[in-house]
Amino acid sequence: MNDWNTETAEWYAANFGDYPTNRLAVDYLDLKDLITIVDVGCGTGSALRHAAEKVENGNFIGIDPVPRMIEIAREQTENNPSYKPISFKIGLAEDLPIVDGIADVVFAFDSIDHWKDVNQGLFEIRRIIKTGGQFVIVKDRSVPNSPESLELLKKELISSGFKIETLLEIKEDGVTFFILTCSIN
Ligand SMILES: C[S@@+](CC[C@H](N)C(=O)[O-])C[C@H]1O[C@@H](n2cnc3c(N)ncnc32)[C@H](O)[C@@H]1O
Repeated sequence: MNDWNTETAEWYAANFGDYPTNRLAVDYLDLKDLITIVDVGCGTGSALRHAAEKVENGNFIGIDPVPRMIEIAREQTENNPSYKPISFKIGLAEDLPIVDGIADVVFAFDSIDHWKDVNQGLFEIRRIIKTGGQFVIVKDRSVPNSPESLELLKKELISSGFKIETLLEIKEDGVTFFILTCSIN
């Protein structure tokens, strides 16, 4: 979908707001305490709420360009019974409102296919990741052309200076998705 706005944010939140890939991918990751995680295209903030349950004293920042999506993410986080603070900001992957070199881990869960300029988004992610940091990408296998777009993405990652460390296909809880973990060269 190219047109994310108030209406599509409400539709997405009602139907896919806590899509299982968010929990399953976070469960799979080895996340240390005290880290900073930035989620680019965070949607309702589901992945960060799962991460906040796992990471003690972490710093969690969700970015999404749609103001209504950010409002929903804030509401759902405040109403979460196991509330942990998460900061949400309006912004594009291509122009992240984040200072250089602060992220230990960056998530892009079912987000990259929606960016208008993937290379600029990857440039921004490199800018905000610490040396030794990790970039984690989730791609839902049920999205049309997902294997082909995964091949293209791998090339774009390598030409943007990322090293692909792991690539797995996970099938669980009725969803099948790819999870790629990348470091920076
Ligand atoms: C399919 S949803 C995924 C949301 C969430 N990551 C998840 O897995 O549930 C895609 C998200 O990407 C956001 N998005 C669209 N264009 C974007 C861009 N240029 N930069 C960052 N996020 C974008 C949308 O607003 C939407 O929240």
